[in-house]
Amino acid sequence: MTLSDIQSLIQDDIQAVDQLILKRLSSDVVLINQIGHYIINSGGKRLRPLLVLLSARACGYQGSEHCLMAAVIEFIHTSTLLHDDVVDESDTRRGNKTANEVWGNAASVLVGDFLYSRSFEMMVEPGNIRIMQVMSEATNVIAEGEVLQLLNCHDADTTKARYMEVIHRKTAKLFEAATQMGPILANKPELEEAFIAYGRHLGAAFQLIDDVLDYTADESELGKNVGDDLAEGKPTLPLIYTLESGSKEEKEIIRRAIESEGVTLLNEVTQIIKQSGAIEYTQNVAQEEAALAKMALTPLEDSPLKTALCALADLAVNRTH
Ligand code: IPE
Ligand code: IPE
Ligand code: MG
Ligand code: MG
Repeated sequence: MTLSDIQSLIQDDIQAVDQLILKRLSSDVVLINQIGHYIINSGGKRLRPLLVLLSARACGYQGSEHCLMAAVIEFIHTSTLLHDDVVDESDTRRGNKTANEVWGNAASVLVGDFLYSRSFEMMVEPGNIRIMQVMSEATNVIAEGEVLQLLNCHDADTTKARYMEVIHRKTAKLFEAATQMGPILANKPELEEAFIAYGRHLGAAFQLIDDVLDYTADESELGKNVGDDLAEGKPTLPLIYTLESGSKEEKEIIRRAIESEGVTLLNEVTQIIKQSGAIEYTQNVAQEEAALAKMALTPLEDSPLKTALCALADLAVNRTH
């Protein structure tokens, strides 16, 4: 099942979400419209809203509030990207210059705040306390994840456990909130645990691959620069693995890169993590997470929508952008 096969299952919902995103983006402050449309129209895979839609329909939800929540999740995601690119000093996103590169850090942070608070205006509209609880907790956990990550930067003693803690918070938590919307909206509390576990494992797999692609991807295909993680001294799993299992010389170069020399060692580091098996290792961990995501859906009855959710877990691992 390809991504477009999956999307075609819920084509009308996707169109409704696209329209909602554009409508709710608007503000009478010109710069907000400009930057908001710039980042939203740059594309993006819209994976998280897709997860909301599929999860809701897979749980038998018949209403339309899943479209609103899909837009909410994409706004939260986009606001974290606006902030993330400032923090990471990134200059390319979704194949274009980042908003911070075009308009500067202040405008990016403030428009990120706008999208964030707009998402809160929208998420209270259904008047469902469970939705508000899940979404507000998710945003808080994401913020903690970003701060935890900051503490790990330039620390070559970061363990796999600490890395996993960061990716669960900064990335998997939003996937989890997205998929949890399904059983909440469909009023199927008996399925919540399954969807939480599915989202959590899928989100972890997705970030593990993002961290591989930061070294191995084709930049024009990825739409972001490679090497941004190293530039920031981010100890991601390919580096952590090499620091445990590489040769003495390999470990020494990786340590220097994380602690101080960063992107000046990008070519050496990329070669080392390829030859030390760290890329394969990280891909295998992502594969295991995807397998756990699929397994988590066992309680859900079979349907084309369930098949699509399982296929998405595989696509998250086998992606090149
Ligand atoms: C980027 O997410 C941030 C991560 C959690 C890795 P995506 O790769 O889903 O970004 P877009 O929305 O498609 O641009
Ligand atoms: C994901 O981390 C950021 C968020 C969850 C906000 P990255 O810093 O790896 O994301 P990219 O690679 O810039 O998209
Ligand atoms: Mg980043
Ligand atoms: Mg990344």
